[in-house]
Amino acid sequence: MPERVPDGYPGRVTRTHDDVVREAMHEMPYGIYVIGSSRDGRPNAMIADWVMQVSFSPRLVLVAMENDATTLGAVRESRAFTVSLLQQQNNGMALAARFVQPRRAEKVRGRSEGAAAREVDKLADVEYSATARGCPILTDALMWLDCEAEQFLPAGDHTLVIGRVLDGAVTGTGDPLTSTYTGWVYSG
Ligand SMILES: Cc1cc2nc3c(=O)[nH]c(=O)nc-3n(C[C@H](O)[C@H](O)[C@H](O)COP(=O)(O)O)c2cc1C
Repeated sequence: MPERVPDGYPGRVTRTHDDVVREAMHEMPYGIYVIGSSRDGRPNAMIADWVMQVSFSPRLVLVAMENDATTLGAVRESRAFTVSLLQQQNNGMALAARFVQPRRAEKVRGRSEGAAAREVDKLADVEYSATARGCPILTDALMWLDCEAEQFLPAGDHTLVIGRVLDGAVTGTGDPLTSTYTGWVYSG
């Protein structure tokens, strides 16, 4: 059988073993979630692929959060976060694109000093409701969960946040937005 050569590797470039392992990890499929948080009365939200249920009783979900994400700092302080699963329909792709950017522009390398000092309100013009503790739930989501963070486990450049599910509901009728659908890669 001919070797399957992924896009982006012209024949003359030799793939390293690390490239091969990274490509294997790129095949792992994920849902596209928006993690909502709130700090000092200001809501924020970020895209996350690395979200999963880890216990039935009690109901626990895990979100792997980048150590330097504004979201992680807010959740450490408030212990509250929400999970909204985006849909392929209802502007799911546009919403996903909006929540990819960090709240603190300084997190993006190469920004000028002025631009880096900026805080982005990713929720401006986005329809959402807020939980009792101020975390946003996107109106266009397929489903949402309201969670209480119970454990913070260091895991390399991420922190595993394990949250107890306090509430949740299905609010859409579409299909879940997934990494297979978007073609975006957060793995490897
Ligand atoms: C497709 C995709 C999936 C992502 N998944 C995660 C994730 O699971 N965990 C995470 O911490 N960041 C993830 N990110 C990166 C965050 O969304 C990004 O760093 C965000 O800017 C952090 O926002 P904040 O600094 O406002 O909290 C992902 C980014 C993309 C493009």
